[in-house]
Amino acid sequence: MSSQGPLTAEWFQRASANLVNGVSSGFRYLGDDDTLVIDRGEGAYVWDMDGKRYIDYQCAWGPIILGHADPYVTDAVIAAAREGTTFAMTQRREVEAAEAILDAIKWAERMRFTNTGTEATMHALRLARGWANRDLVVKFEGAYHGAHDYVLFTTASAPPAHLGSRLRPIPYQVSSGIPDGIRSYIRTLPFNDVDALVDYFDDYGHQTAAVIVEPAAGNAFGIMPEPGFLEKLRELCTSNNTVLIFDEVKTGFRFALGGAVETFGVTPDIATYAKALGNGFPVAAVALSAEMVDGWKLGGIAQAGTFGGNGIASAAAKATIEQLRTTDAFAQIEKVGKALMEGLARVLVEFGVEGDVIGHPSMFSVYMGEGRPIEFRDIAAHDARLYTATIEGMIRRGVMPCIDAREPWFLSASHTMEDVALTLEVFSDALVEALARAGSLPSHLDEGD
Ligand SMILES: Cc1ncc(COP(=O)(O)O)c(C=O)c1O
Repeated sequence: MSSQGPLTAEWFQRASANLVNGVSSGFRYLGDDDTLVIDRGEGAYVWDMDGKRYIDYQCAWGPIILGHADPYVTDAVIAAAREGTTFAMTQRREVEAAEAILDAIKWAERMRFTNTGTEATMHALRLARGWANRDLVVKFEGAYHGAHDYVLFTTASAPPAHLGSRLRPIPYQVSSGIPDGIRSYIRTLPFNDVDALVDYFDDYGHQTAAVIVEPAAGNAFGIMPEPGFLEKLRELCTSNNTVLIFDEVKTGFRFALGGAVETFGVTPDIATYAKALGNGFPVAAVALSAEMVDGWKLGGIAQAGTFGGNGIASAAAKATIEQLRTTDAFAQIEKVGKALMEGLARVLVEFGVEGDVIGHPSMFSVYMGEGRPIEFRDIAAHDARLYTATIEGMIRRGVMPCIDAREPWFLSASHTMEDVALTLEVFSDALVEALARAGSLPSHLDEGD
């Protein structure tokens, strides 16, 4: 059944006549009948071209932290646009935004702006390789670090059953078009597996330029780090002169003002930020410890970008941080997110669905399978068919998490307890419908019994 109303379907035809598959990012294409076209967003809601309202738990896959079209951020951006945006020179707003960012994250000595998370991780990896004078980079299975060649291995699109031994995983290339040689520079490891980490460092630590890690797996069910994992990673990187890169593109300015560094108390050498930093405006940053600064300061390791630190991006970042700092945004997200996580878990129990709600109140996933996944390979047990059928039912009823459980639900400060109540009602109805269709409704709910 199509998710599109008549006007949305018409707009999707127009989109498809101009944009390949009707989208500007491959992940957004959900098929010709189910890819929506959105008219506008405000607070916790988005409206499609038919005027149908959805409670939005995609939040643009992370950026929307205050709510859509936050008036304070919008005003700051309009003011910036009126005064010119890009000058090929450092500008006032860029300086103010950098001050706000370093003040918020606390641990870093210097930073530079980029425009997207992809650009940020690309620059972070080159800096790390240039600094360490080594080529090998480690990433964790199920993690996504953007769309450049060096990191498109064993993302959550890889089949968990084809990743080889836990101690010597096979990096799985998830796109054509990447030169064969690139594979030789990347190693993959299971997240949260200290034994695999120690084993790897014993053999290859001295050759490894960097480990890049999403401190919580924001592209694989929002899985959180097990106690001690990030600490062990920090210790091994330090003792091997390997650069530790936190990819905070999803966790930064979302878990807390100081991101995952503040939440978990472990400090990287380099961190990348994007998404929530601009509440929907394209802005990203690479932050550096004191030791890393010389890598760029002395020259010789290329970093550049025409739009880096532009006025719109800088104004959005500064205003977003001001709002996060001076309102109860994080408290609201935690309260509403926790209530939603607990409510969803109760519904799973009520309908006899084995599973769990895992992650952080601002970014969590509904897992439908045995046990509690602590790394990407565990999610092979997830019942994707039941989950997808449930979310399809929710979207029809006007509540929109991502259709793919690997991509977490995201909360903004605009979501309310009323939204939670409606969401739980809709989740129950959609789950019952999906279970009935699969013939797995618990007997006490099966009217046919
Ligand atoms: C952790 C992480 N890093 C990097 C990226 C790439 O960011 P962008 O899409 O802005 O290029 C993403 C995007 O989802 C991400 O989740």
